[in-house]
Amino acid sequence: MVPDRRTVEVTVARACRAPSLHNSQPWHWVMSATELRLYSDPDRLLPATDGFGRQMVISCGAALNHLEYAFAAHHWRPLIERLPRSSNRQLLSTIGFAPAPNPTDFVARMAAAIERRRTERLPLDAPPAWRETLEQLVRITAGTGVDLEDLGERSRPALEEASRRMTGLRHDDPTYQAELRWWSGRGLFPDGVPEQARPSDRQQHAVHLSREFPPGRASTPDGSPSEDRSAILLLSTSADSRLDWLRSGEALSSVLLACTDRGLATCPVTHLTERASTRTMLRELSSGAGMPQVLIRVGASTRAPTPPTTPRRPLSEVLVRERPAPSNAHGE
Ligand SMILES: Cc1cc2nc3c(=O)[nH]c(=O)nc-3n(C[C@H](O)[C@H](O)[C@H](O)COP(=O)(O)O)c2cc1C
Repeated sequence: MVPDRRTVEVTVARACRAPSLHNSQPWHWVMSATELRLYSDPDRLLPATDGFGRQMVISCGAALNHLEYAFAAHHWRPLIERLPRSSNRQLLSTIGFAPAPNPTDFVARMAAAIERRRTERLPLDAPPAWRETLEQLVRITAGTGVDLEDLGERSRPALEEASRRMTGLRHDDPTYQAELRWWSGRGLFPDGVPEQARPSDRQQHAVHLSREFPPGRASTPDGSPSEDRSAILLLSTSADSRLDWLRSGEALSSVLLACTDRGLATCPVTHLTERASTRTMLRELSSGAGMPQVLIRVGASTRAPTPPTTPRRPLSEVLVRERPAPSNAHGE
């Protein structure tokens, strides 16, 4: 039993609202007569930033988690198999279906948050009721194989210093810079990080823990705090396999949606996970011995009204229907 065509299209479109490295949207979906399949799209790998495809798989994991909430809101329970045996290395998941009862209030709220979530790169105020939020985020990620830790204010100076050093190193890396420019400011394309989502020159440097993008048009209203007071979360895993990456993306998605549901702004931050030295530093700052996968800034946005969401590729580019194999009329 599978959902009808319209339900598949609506839910896959919602899954594609997931965050991805530089809005590269490195996913490809195939709907067959019996199941949906999720593949990573190697044409959308960012070699200078993400040579091993770790963040490509994390991005696909985020889309898989978005898909799960979107289907649940439509009364379907996706039966997810991760990294099924296949000769195709890009196959990340097969998804079967079972009918499901009414979504719980929590699931309905997580699904509704998909359309409201966006990455906020401007300085954030400290998140209100943080202890309660953190307890919920720890509950949501428990049992997923991904550890969530609040690195706390004590880590900020070391993180900011490492971020400054990383930004300096990247200034001297023309291949990285060319890739970043390619994925920024391509106004006519439905991918990349658009101008309205990139901080202005003045505000770029107010957030010391951030990846540097070419300056854009996003800025906070005059008079709002120019210093970033966001909480800083770290997602890490015990090993560094493709399954760990996929699971990290799923956990990232759940955390971002739960924060959005609580009215909080979020920003995934990964430049410090892209070099062995800064990854080791993150590991030492954390209380566990896991492999750091993603940092997340969480706080209260000072921007009003919120900017439009970033564009996505048309569904026809990312979702295909598999034609049933023609039956053999001669029964051979
Ligand atoms: C694996 C991954 C890594 C990311 N790294 C960063 C980052 O280092 N800095 C940043 O500002 N945004 C980062 N993002 C956020 C993406 O740029 C963002 O999701 C994308 O541009 C789409 O925009 P949206 O999240 O507003 O829909 C990352 C997202 C993912 C999934």
